[in-house]
Amino acid sequence: MNEKILIIDFGGQYRDLIARRVREANVYSEVYPYTISIDKIKSLNPKGIIFTGGPSSIYLDDAPKIDKEIFNLGIPILGICYGMQFMTNALGGEVKKAKMREYGEMEVDLNLSSKLFQGLDSKNTSLMSHTDYVSKLPKGFVKIASTKTCPIAGIENSLLNFYGVQFHPEVTLTNKGLEIIKNFLKICNCSFTWKMDYFKENKIKELKKKIGNKKVLCALSGGVDSAVAATLLIKAIGSNLTCIFVDHGLLRKNEAQEVSKIFGNRNDVNFIMVDARERFLTKLKGVTNPESKRKIIGEEFIRVFESEAKKLGAIDFLVQGTIYPDVIESGVGKSAVIKSHHNVGGLPKNIDFKEIIEPLRDLFKDEVRALGLSLGLDSEIVMRQPFPGPGLAIRIIGEITNEKLEILKDADYIFREEIKNHNLDKEINQYFAVLTDIKSVGVMGDSRTYDYMLALRGVVTSDFMTASIAHIPYEVLEIISRRIVNEVPHINRVVYDITSKPPATIEWE
Ligand code: XMP
Repeated sequence: MNEKILIIDFGGQYRDLIARRVREANVYSEVYPYTISIDKIKSLNPKGIIFTGGPSSIYLDDAPKIDKEIFNLGIPILGICYGMQFMTNALGGEVKKAKMREYGEMEVDLNLSSKLFQGLDSKNTSLMSHTDYVSKLPKGFVKIASTKTCPIAGIENSLLNFYGVQFHPEVTLTNKGLEIIKNFLKICNCSFTWKMDYFKENKIKELKKKIGNKKVLCALSGGVDSAVAATLLIKAIGSNLTCIFVDHGLLRKNEAQEVSKIFGNRNDVNFIMVDARERFLTKLKGVTNPESKRKIIGEEFIRVFESEAKKLGAIDFLVQGTIYPDVIESGVGKSAVIKSHHNVGGLPKNIDFKEIIEPLRDLFKDEVRALGLSLGLDSEIVMRQPFPGPGLAIRIIGEITNEKLEILKDADYIFREEIKNHNLDKEINQYFAVLTDIKSVGVMGDSRTYDYMLALRGVVTSDFMTASIAHIPYEVLEIISRRIVNEVPHINRVVYDITSKPPATIEWE
């Protein structure tokens, strides 16, 4: 881990996605806020530095900035989006506000003589998301990329090894983005030898040391993240771990039984299941605001864990399978709150545990899956599609009632069944139904109906930070729609959500 890349965070939504891409290229990386001192940077001795994007404008008074001394350290730097604008401004170039925001996947013309774009094609689809743009290059820099609307979309000073791109190479929506990052790592002279196994070994050691022979409760949802977190803990502390699964009444059809079958029958796991259906549904009565739903659920989970911990006696630690996207979307540092994930932004202030341990907090979903496989977890569990902690509560728009829950469970079950029947379940990374609060007029038999509209969502993604829509064949959609309106009372219209993330999120609430 001596060889590292430093990522300096200016508040970008994708800051750890950059860290994750660097790790994917087998180079160790760490993220630090832009307030990091120059002395600290020197002591970390990085092979290269990456500036993230961020929501600010460089000419605002409170724009995040770092001491210009950073450009005198002789370390290669790559600035992304706001990071490139900061570099431009700091080194004497000019940044202006455009009349219109440039947003979405754009064709970028690349100058292939730049080391940053080696091995790419001269036209590359890339995610652009900015209003400000570089209008004048700093001295010593040349332009290496442009789009129709953004004349300077990439810059370099190859003598100093300073590079900047207006687009986002870290997201999967950008074609060959990882190649661009790898090219930068080559410019930094990295040796590409870091492995995920180092993470596993270090984490187990770290957990052993921290917990000693104390007792731990691990929140298990049946999803990948908590299953991997629990497995790490079993390796670290064995039978001092108890896993707890809460049925909050917002689970998919048959889910509670499936999860207890997977975990309840293992003899290396102390497993308890709590029926908290009434408790959650009472608290959610009449609640329609998505953030309120998330906060109520976040708090209720903790209260259930606390009361179960009391019954077990002397439990200091609670383990959660929180992963990186949960953290970033809940808003940290300068990043905006997108939604309060139940296990981060939805947590109550007062918690009756000495500490919450989150061993996967720095990892992305695909990294968690790789870790799960390397821990020997069954691929059935590791490859399960994600299901959010707040469950169907954030897939029912408006108030949650028992009637709506039953409608959604049945419709969602048909959707999942047909996706599996058509062998699409391995291709689509997450797919589910959403019960909207829109009612519309239909005709069934010879009668008028006035019933709910159901939305289907299917996305393709590896990191769940960005996602494209799944191209489910029309014939399959038609079969699903027909089955749902015929078999599920109170749905008379089915639509398919064709929005990528961004600008939409995967869940509707
Ligand atoms: P969004 O909707 O933010 O979802 O694009 C990204 C991924 O996170 C899952 N998700 C959650 N998972 N607790 C969770 O455990 C939450 O509160 C939560 N909210 C969203 C979502 O299903 C998707 O896989």
